[in-house]
Amino acid sequence: MSDAHPERQRRLLYGRRKGPKLRGRQAELLETLLPQLTLQIEKDRDPRGYFSAPVSEVWLEVGFGAGEHLHALAQAHPDVGLIGAEPFINGVAKLLSKLAPDEGGNIRLHVGDARDIIEALPDKSLGRVMILFPDPWPKTRHHKRRFIQSAMLDALARVMKPGAELRFATDDPGYLVWALERLVAHPQFAWTAQRADDWRNRPADWPQTRYEAKAIKGVPSYFSFVRI
Ligand SMILES: C[S@@+](CC[C@H](N)C(=O)[O-])C[C@H]1O[C@@H](n2cnc3c(N)ncnc32)[C@H](O)[C@@H]1O
Repeated sequence: MSDAHPERQRRLLYGRRKGPKLRGRQAELLETLLPQLTLQIEKDRDPRGYFSAPVSEVWLEVGFGAGEHLHALAQAHPDVGLIGAEPFINGVAKLLSKLAPDEGGNIRLHVGDARDIIEALPDKSLGRVMILFPDPWPKTRHHKRRFIQSAMLDALARVMKPGAELRFATDDPGYLVWALERLVAHPQFAWTAQRADDWRNRPADWPQTRYEAKAIKGVPSYFSFVRI
């Protein structure tokens, strides 16, 4: 398996950070609401301490896009703290524009690379990690840009509690094989699927993402692994 060298991958963040210039309410929310929800990352801090609302556990969504999924989970699980990482500022603005004034207590955001958060978290501190439709980087020379790498799975295994769930979805057949090869081979993750329908159908408690609703290119698959 030709994974990226961890040091090299850590230094680089690929993909768009900015889209069309934001105006009006979205620009205003970036000035006013984003600073309130932005996570000030502290090395080894228990992530429950980042939230203004009391939370029993913390989940991380990597690359939340426009935030539909993150928002739906935050509403469905008010007792859970949701950390979302997304470098694309226009997506962050879309999420902010969805939040009602009384929402946000159980949401914290990092406008940047999810790896910054993962590296800073203490061991066994996350109850769930979600990586939904990550950029597929289909060209062989770009495979090192894929978020799921063996070293990343080691890092996730460190910060996830035993029994914590790792959710992964993709519509890219190449990324599917790449990720499954690494996940199945990893000694600290176990695949929960019993039958094909378990990865063909999105579970009822797994809200649809914007990419899945609007930009999907292939057949989606949904994977749930448990941190052993
Ligand atoms: C194809 S989009 C999918 C977005 C969303 N999950 C959905 O399904 O609608 C992939 C997203 O991952 C984000 N991304 C890429 N690398 C990332 C990283 N290292 N940390 C956090 N987000 C990342 C991109 O900016 C992009 O918004």
